[in-house]
Amino acid sequence: MDEQLLQIFEENTDKFLSGEQLSVKLGCSRTAIWKHIERLRQEGYVFEAVSRKGYRMISKPEKLDIPNISSRLTTETFGRHIRYFDEVDSTNNTANALVKEGGVEGTLIIAEKQTAGRGRMGRQWHSPKGKGLWMSLILKPRIPLHFTPHLTLLVAVALCRTIRQLTQLPAGIKWPNDLLIDGKKISGILLESSAEEEKLHHVIAGVGISVNLQAEDYPEEIRGIATSLAIEAGKEVNRSELLVHFLQELESLYKVYHEQGFAPIKLLWEALSVSLNKAVRTQSPQGLKEGFAVGIDDSGALIVRQEDGSLTKWYSGNIEF
Ligand code: BTN
Repeated sequence: MDEQLLQIFEENTDKFLSGEQLSVKLGCSRTAIWKHIERLRQEGYVFEAVSRKGYRMISKPEKLDIPNISSRLTTETFGRHIRYFDEVDSTNNTANALVKEGGVEGTLIIAEKQTAGRGRMGRQWHSPKGKGLWMSLILKPRIPLHFTPHLTLLVAVALCRTIRQLTQLPAGIKWPNDLLIDGKKISGILLESSAEEEKLHHVIAGVGISVNLQAEDYPEEIRGIATSLAIEAGKEVNRSELLVHFLQELESLYKVYHEQGFAPIKLLWEALSVSLNKAVRTQSPQGLKEGFAVGIDDSGALIVRQEDGSLTKWYSGNIEF
């Protein structure tokens, strides 16, 4: 139905079409037409509505131009194979399926919309159509399994540097890998790895960047804690440009990591962190833990000074400060 309605609007961009005309053409009620138009609006289509004249389509949501992105990429492997979808449940699920069919390192899976985007700790990730970058990258790092947390921090560094360079917005990293601007979340990273015994087989690096969402695009319950690049910058941000820069930055840091180890990534992470030198707390199965974040160790764990002066390490969780 949405497809048929869109086709009629696309063939009549110079005309207003009344609810009555559309309902006759599509054999449904005017209320059904109105509901479909509202749904299309939520997906980024813009309609002008004039009483007694009807509706006219003004613009369609911008789609990622994959051939153009490929031609601008200067990477060796990252994004050299791209699987692009209009809609998937979760790009991490698609990537997991693809890797089993032999998907190679650097393959990018990207979708305009996710219907069941997944966040850390079983949370949902809101991924409306055409408004963000919802993507997963297949990685086959040559590292021991227990080094996998390094990659989480590495992806956060690449993303934070990209956002800063491209938008000049003051993005910072909240341990381990949330990206915040003025305390509000702009991006999330979900790494999923597969290993046999101690041998790491592959990692799926899922990255969600809220690029051009407006406040009304967010469910009410996250409106106060989430933001987008467009909201912060006061103008739309080009998704393709952001993607090209991110893949390039990520590949170059990934090479540095394989050649020089975690030390240079750790330095960059510390410089971009908004969690260090702050009082922090987290809910653990043993109850509330509190302390003062003083740094990260060589495994990527957060080093926290407790009230009695002793140092402890937090390996996972969601911190608040
Ligand atoms: C978090 O902050 O909780 C992590 C969010 C990760 C979201 C991205 S969007 C692309 C990829 N596919 C998913 O289902 N999740 C990740």
